[in-house]
Amino acid sequence: MSRLIIIFLFPAFVFSQDIRQSESYANGQLVYEDFCMLCHMANGQGVPKAFPPLANSDYLKDIKATVNSIKYGLNGPIVVNGVKYNSVMAPMGLDDQEVADVTNFILNTWGNKYDKLITKQMVEKLTTKQ
Ligand code: HEC
Repeated sequence: MSRLIIIFLFPAFVFSQDIRQSESYANGQLVYEDFCMLCHMANGQGVPKAFPPLANSDYLKDIKATVNSIKYGLNGPIVVNGVKYNSVMAPMGLDDQEVADVTNFILNTWGNKYDKLITKQMVEKLTTKQ
């Protein structure tokens, strides 16, 4: 009996995960357009020597650092795809849901791919003010 329940519930779970993923992605796109595009550009390429790229950025492999930078801002020296930046990204005052949404957007756009959904709860857990 319990096996039957699992068989029936599994597709429903996968389906709702898909819906949550596309909702979060769509909201994240709006956040991106409002808060990020100005510097990181519509194509995620950034601006050479000033604003680092998000498209194919190796920085995004560190999810904790990525989420922290979006929630609290980022400054000081970093290296993205072998190029040094030493600048300031001010915190944008996003709430945890918006941080999760825009992270899902940038992790799955411009050829970037990340198969897990970032949730509000994960943002709460992952972020530490530095
Ligand atoms: C005013 C310009 C500006 C805005 C707006 C901005 N950023 Fe940034 N961002 C920067 C700069 C400058 C850095 C590098 C900071 C450093 O050198 O320490 C950076 C770094 C990053 C990084 C880490 C490095 C990389 O390229 O992978 C991520 C991730 C990021 N920004 C995401 C975002 C997101 C998401 C938003 C919108 C919610 C956003 N940024 C808005 C300027 C900006």
